[in-house]
Amino acid sequence: MPKAGVIGWPVKHSKSPIIYRYWLEKNNIRGHYTDIEISPDDFQKCIFQLADDGFVGVNVTIPYKESAIAMADKKTSRASSIGAANMLIFRGGGIIAENTDAEGFIRNLRASAPDWNPARGMVLVLGAGGAARAIIYALVESGASQIFIANRTQFRAKNLAAEFQLSLISWDDINQATAEASMVVNTTSLGMAGQPPLDIELNCPSDALVTDIVYTPVETPLLAQAKAKGLATVDGLGMLLHQAVPGFEAWFGTRPAVTPALREKVLSA
Ligand code: ATR
Repeated sequence: MPKAGVIGWPVKHSKSPIIYRYWLEKNNIRGHYTDIEISPDDFQKCIFQLADDGFVGVNVTIPYKESAIAMADKKTSRASSIGAANMLIFRGGGIIAENTDAEGFIRNLRASAPDWNPARGMVLVLGAGGAARAIIYALVESGASQIFIANRTQFRAKNLAAEFQLSLISWDDINQATAEASMVVNTTSLGMAGQPPLDIELNCPSDALVTDIVYTPVETPLLAQAKAKGLATVDGLGMLLHQAVPGFEAWFGTRPAVTPALREKVLSA
């Protein structure tokens, strides 16, 4: 029976066990998916132990996405470009680092906003952390050509702008910048329960799309503002569900479906 799990510190907030167990049950697969909370001192040892114990792999969450890629024997080119892994696959005695966040972001957009055209107009990315790296990688891969980035700590945005050839916008100028944006993406943690909301005034054109990677709550203050202004929105829960699809397929051999029932299951948990 294949065994997989999610490793983090803390890990109790993770929705992955709900998603994976739902798919195991729906697809009548005898498999095991568990959450593993481990402190940073024991992270590497724990990964080797899980591989020895016959696990097929693990999802990796906060704060291990960078440590995971550093310890892998091999990394996929997208994990390398993003500089972080959300998945470690144990295969043939080795550890492969993969990142499915970029794919999850794009598949969710394609499913939720089928008319979205990456090549049309300016995309404004807010934030410059690990999540921003995956999303920028995804946007570039999809053919977005005018990507602007703004971050509270300017030098982080500047580094990303140099690496991915983006345009840089000052954090103080984001309200004005939205006036030109065909798409606004929040990759910061602002708007998450327990965090302040993202302080922004959306002045976007009426056909702009606003997306958020925060999914607790599903309707963040940013998305509520966008909706109130009649703008199209895509929430972060969809990205979470879609990024899990390739992991499930790799470990349990069946490509699972992202359905409204799964969304409901995660929302009600
Ligand atoms: P992740 O890997 O999840 O993206 P991260 O690397 O800690 O996490 O990045 C968090 C992002 O949220 C960063 O862009 C951070 O801005 P800074 O680089 O200035 O820290 C942003 N962020 C977090 N709290 C913020 C706040 N109160 N105001 C503005 N930006 C904030």
